[in-house]
Amino acid sequence: MSLPYFESVSPGSGTVPPRSWYATSSAASLSLNGSWRFRLSPTAEAEDDSFARPGYDASGWGEITVPGHWVLQGDGAHGSPAYTNVNYPFPVDPPRVPTENPTGDHLRVFDLPDTWPADGESVIRFEGVESCAKVWLNGTELGDFKGSRLPHEFSVGGLLQEHDNVLAVRVHQWSSGSYLEDQDQWWLPGIFREVSLLHRPDGAAADFRVHASYDHRDGLGTLRVETTTPAARVSVPELGLDLASGEPATVPVQPWTAETPRLYDGEIRTAAGETIPFRAGFRTVALEDGLIKVNGTPVLFRGVNRHEFHPEHGRAVGLDTMRRDLLLMKRHNVNAVRTSHYPPHPAFLDLCDELGLWVIDECDLETHGFVFDDWRRNPVDDERWTPALLDRARRMVERDKNHPSVLLWSLGNECGTGAGLTAMARWIRDRDPSRLVHYEGDPSCADTDVYSRMYPPHDEVETIGRYEDEGPAKRRQLPFILCEYGHAMGNGPGGLADYQRLFEAHDRLQGGFVWEWIDHGLNHPGYGFGYGGDFGEELHDGNFVCDGLLFPDRTPSPGLVEYKKVIEPVRIHGDGNGDSSADTVRVTNGHDFTDLTHLAFTWSYEVDGESVATGPLTVPPLAPGQSAEVKLPAPPADARGSEAAWTVRAELAEDTAWAPAGHLVAWGQLTAAPRAVTAAATGAAPVRDRDTITLGPAVFDARTGALRSLGPIQVPADGEPRLDVWRAPTDNDDGAPWQPDARYGLLWREAGLHRVRHRRDQVALDDGALVVRSRVAPAASQLGLATEYRWTADDSGRLTLSVTVTPEGDWRIPLPRLGIRFGIPSTYGETATWFGGGPGEAYPDTRAAARLGRWQSPVDALQTPYVRPQENGARADVRWAELTGPDGGGLRITGEPEFWFTARRWTTEQLDAAGHGTDLVPGDTVWVNLDHAQHGIGSQSCGPGPLPQYRLEAAPATFSFTFSALGRIGH
Ligand code: GAL
Repeated sequence: MSLPYFESVSPGSGTVPPRSWYATSSAASLSLNGSWRFRLSPTAEAEDDSFARPGYDASGWGEITVPGHWVLQGDGAHGSPAYTNVNYPFPVDPPRVPTENPTGDHLRVFDLPDTWPADGESVIRFEGVESCAKVWLNGTELGDFKGSRLPHEFSVGGLLQEHDNVLAVRVHQWSSGSYLEDQDQWWLPGIFREVSLLHRPDGAAADFRVHASYDHRDGLGTLRVETTTPAARVSVPELGLDLASGEPATVPVQPWTAETPRLYDGEIRTAAGETIPFRAGFRTVALEDGLIKVNGTPVLFRGVNRHEFHPEHGRAVGLDTMRRDLLLMKRHNVNAVRTSHYPPHPAFLDLCDELGLWVIDECDLETHGFVFDDWRRNPVDDERWTPALLDRARRMVERDKNHPSVLLWSLGNECGTGAGLTAMARWIRDRDPSRLVHYEGDPSCADTDVYSRMYPPHDEVETIGRYEDEGPAKRRQLPFILCEYGHAMGNGPGGLADYQRLFEAHDRLQGGFVWEWIDHGLNHPGYGFGYGGDFGEELHDGNFVCDGLLFPDRTPSPGLVEYKKVIEPVRIHGDGNGDSSADTVRVTNGHDFTDLTHLAFTWSYEVDGESVATGPLTVPPLAPGQSAEVKLPAPPADARGSEAAWTVRAELAEDTAWAPAGHLVAWGQLTAAPRAVTAAATGAAPVRDRDTITLGPAVFDARTGALRSLGPIQVPADGEPRLDVWRAPTDNDDGAPWQPDARYGLLWREAGLHRVRHRRDQVALDDGALVVRSRVAPAASQLGLATEYRWTADDSGRLTLSVTVTPEGDWRIPLPRLGIRFGIPSTYGETATWFGGGPGEAYPDTRAAARLGRWQSPVDALQTPYVRPQENGARADVRWAELTGPDGGGLRITGEPEFWFTARRWTTEQLDAAGHGTDLVPGDTVWVNLDHAQHGIGSQSCGPGPLPQYRLEAAPATFSFTFSALGRIGH
């Protein structure tokens, strides 16, 4: 049986050889973006191809915007987006696809501009079409192609006419190419990148290649620009170069690095008079001494994996969005991008060259769904598919070869192993020996220059860092990177700082790429942002598509703020004397190439979280890798308070292309005077009435011992303070089935921690205190927490609660949290002010970015809007917190020791039950959790769970809080 073109394994027919992309040239061009006529059919063959003929009447068709995906246009009339991770959303029978194959016919009629040259050739260029297209111009079939995120061009010169050119494009959602594009993202058909008509003058350079290397030993750069037409000149005025095609020149240059993205503007002039601007960045990439070196220096990747994503436009991302991504990356200390799992829009790489990012450019290839059948019939292991694989490799390399930012070519992602991959690697090495080759999926590393892994636990990374790993001899010599780690799904990822410490301790560990840059939550009419299953898919992977450091609207999540701190390229540490007052600070330059002259350092002396004195700090310029002890000034003599700290900041001294002067790059804090202990409130005698016990400012129910009021604040029903160990499990708590670590989110629920009961054992007055004893325990289990609440007060309005917890039974699981929870009327809980870690959320293994200070936020803004609601919003190391209403009335809480503070306008149970943010409706009560401890976050939604030191074991604990009402009777 002969298969139709869309099912054939062939990459296509009729296209011209791939070549490099460039943003502009003096040759004529015509954008064919904009509104096109559009008709959607349920199958590939529902309609014949008469629509491609000139004169066809498409007036009854709808319209669609190109670039764009049809499923994201037309308010549901064009089908829906669908999300699967590893599963193919159709029967796996390569290369066949289902008969139900949404097919979009696109029509565009255009005139040539008057100025369009009569001579020469013209090409129609498609930058990206998912997943397979057949193209006609003026009724003539040009050919067909697959390879969704790769460019395809057709020669059309002879077919063009002055007016009413009819460009017809038939796009199939499914094709043999879909088997190569199983990349854990939305399936989004359509012409999603630009379409253009480009004039190619006679004698034009069909293609060109910029070789710009740098020799760090002598500071010389060598430029050689090859053009496919020999009759061309190449000039770089700034370097005084005017060269023939292919002629090398060696001159002193400033090298290109991600830290110093120095580009030299050049121009190619062909005999035909076409000029093509280009930018040369001089740099040399090599595998040397088992390390990836750029310009002779090993580099450390502080990377992210970036999919192209926009919540409204899917993978049709505009230039503004690309630039915004890169500015956000640079401002968060990110220095590297893996273009998971396909070449990005070509303009993105121009921006990487310009702003300075190291790039792993990944080919448009993933066949992950074959894993379920032991990789049987895997296209990369079947020679019939090799031409399609080579076509993809070639289109990527040819398109992107002139970007200095690209250091490594990646063969693809999660394809298992096979001869097809080897063929790709061979072709790539032959074509471009100036770069290295990456692929993670083959443990033998036979085809690659780097040992790359995803999501290994810390201890294994350390073993590899020490060259103590086992495996093939070749692999044991290679540099190591984590092409994916730190799974940023929901709350998290935890443990980033612990990875970074390893990277910085072992040369072989050259850093990693957090998974992933942005949540792929699509705008949804009912849910705000939708994820898998929200668009009616019969097979989907839920919110696994929301695992980014940015929320879908590109607001940084706490994970990105944490990552920025963890990877800061300057380390600012105490003098190692622990808590004793510091008088020097240790500054280490963690850049690979630059000294510190681009940064301005300041110190600030803070008493109880408020800055009382600031000044500049003179730090020596320090070469990469160097450290210095820098003397701090004498602390201000008159500063009094209960605690003091130094904060040292490193900010940009001058404006850069990616942030203004004053942008904070790195910071560190040192204790200047440790916190004084807060004494419990004592002295007031409890007074028992018939129904109540009055203790200082508080009134309790005499029978139950429950707090009823504190000063003017009435405690709502069920809102009395009591022990709480439950949190709405995070995606990382729930974990992934393929991870070996215990899935505590599920185990906690199984143990009933979400439905514990509080048995009252005793309410007693004892030595000036009200003592309530209870046992907190779930049904069907012998596990329990014996809990004693000891209330004392003084006569100035302070009330102290001391909690003592003693676990009973055989606890084999950690606790989600350990603390108390209570409610107060929302009239007292509009604004939170606290002295502790901030401004953002933190958990035991995500707390690097929590800076000690005095912070204020509306309670609503304390919430982190994870696309799937889950535990969030804790503030770390809180000494005291105040909740206040509009008139200033409210509650002050002081902890001994410091505590984790969380406040929200819904209960944990409501948070746990919510599927989307829109399910969370504020009530009349603000629910407050004061936690003595929290279990870590980890990365187990795809990677390892929290490290042992972040486990919250069930163990005896005592902690206390002192409350006072603010406002009318307050202090
Ligand atoms: C990796 C894969 C990514 C993504 C991630 C989990 O295995 O390469 O594409 O699926 O896991 O989010």
